[in-house]
Amino acid sequence: MNNKLSDNFLWGGALAAHQCEGAWNVDGKGISVSDVLAVSSHNKDRKIYRKPQNDVYFPSHKAIDFYHTYKSDLKLFKEMGFKALRVSIAWTRIYPNGDEDTPNEKGLQFYDNLFDEMNKLEIVPVVTLNHNDMPLNLVKKYGGWQNRKLIKFFVHYAKTVFSRYKGKVKYWMTFNEINHLSKVNYEILPYLSGGIYVNQIEKKNLKQVVYTSLHHQFLASALAVISAHEIDSSNMVGNMTAFIMQYSATSNPKDYLFLMQNEYKNYFCTDVQARGYYPNYAKKYFERNNINIPIKKGDLDILRKGTVDYISFSYYMSETLTTDKSLPKNKAAKGILNGVDNPYLKKSEWGWTVDPIGLRLVMNHIYDRYQKPIFIVENGLGAEDKVVNGKIHDNYRIDYLKKHIESMKEAIILDGVDCLGYLSWGPIDIVSASTGEMKKKYGYIFVDYNDQGEGTGKRIKKDSFEWYKKVIESKGVIL
Ligand code: BG6
Repeated sequence: MNNKLSDNFLWGGALAAHQCEGAWNVDGKGISVSDVLAVSSHNKDRKIYRKPQNDVYFPSHKAIDFYHTYKSDLKLFKEMGFKALRVSIAWTRIYPNGDEDTPNEKGLQFYDNLFDEMNKLEIVPVVTLNHNDMPLNLVKKYGGWQNRKLIKFFVHYAKTVFSRYKGKVKYWMTFNEINHLSKVNYEILPYLSGGIYVNQIEKKNLKQVVYTSLHHQFLASALAVISAHEIDSSNMVGNMTAFIMQYSATSNPKDYLFLMQNEYKNYFCTDVQARGYYPNYAKKYFERNNINIPIKKGDLDILRKGTVDYISFSYYMSETLTTDKSLPKNKAAKGILNGVDNPYLKKSEWGWTVDPIGLRLVMNHIYDRYQKPIFIVENGLGAEDKVVNGKIHDNYRIDYLKKHIESMKEAIILDGVDCLGYLSWGPIDIVSASTGEMKKKYGYIFVDYNDQGEGTGKRIKKDSFEWYKKVIESKGVIL
């Protein structure tokens, strides 16, 4: 068996602006939904504030200061041999309030500098337009994505950056983990994804708000795809969904049916964004739940025309579902994972199941279903690291990544899945999205900040740094 991945396979890592940049109010940047989210710890909800407070620590304000350190950080990525790096543009640097006509030149300039530096180092930029940091003003003034006006604002922003970075960026993604908008059991997800304050909406209206907001995001995404192609026909635009491999806990057909009924959590958004229409199972779901999707004349045509070029997704874990109420529920990873414990799988310190084979399964499922190239744009282990005599021996992280990369190779080499690349999450330690902690680390590079942002910010290479370098150098042969 050929054990090597192709020369143009995009090895690298992935970051998000609000988790790494800091400089939250520098050079004209506006306030985003992330900028008012306080830090919490282990699987507790992060508190959402209405505005920044002087006596509360908001991790996005400083993060790891990538805004100022990007040049030296990129050098470290280059040293590892990165072929690509996923970053996101902070919408609030370009349009601080989201609804302006004229962009903020200093914000545009920052990303010019960032992309120029990446291109100089031959690190391909893979850019997310919106990664959990929509302008807070759009939530306060318009009610977030349930308001159709947001489509116009988003498309205006998308066109601005497509035109400005023409020739510098080819790979784009519209909304990060768009399916998180419907995870109403975990309040921060619909808030970050759609500007929805779950607790303020009457329960009976919640589904309507969620699917109205999603309809608007689908349209915004499709219009962005259309514009990206018009502005530069070589642009490639992907969607982005959080995929969780799902299993049936038993061979009881009732469990299997239940599993099938829950698959929409993975597939619904991608079905619309990749195929260009609402699937029948969704239409029936809307009917049963009295949800009226506010489809206006021309909407369905836009969805049909604006399908994505590739399917990008995050993969961290799997969940196990059953109708048997007597089985103990998986209480870890509150609101993110459903179902029951899987006796065959271990969990991370944060309760996320570790399931490398699940990645191979997910890759096959996605590729078979859409027949478009796929792109792994997040995967990794969040773990606490200890610095011992200036070194970090993160063999647990190497073990996780190695098994997932092995599984990915099997999907590509043995099963024939067309995969553009592998971008592991947080190649340098960044703020955790779910908890705001710095101690939940994914990186090959350690960053000396604690959960309150105290520390020197010094970067230290972990053992995984050299390991990943060899993986990339050998095109995935040496693991
Ligand atoms: C994904 C997000 O959900 O998972 C990232 O796109 C996030 O922003 C990543 O950081 C890992 O989650 P966490 O909560 O461990 O940071």
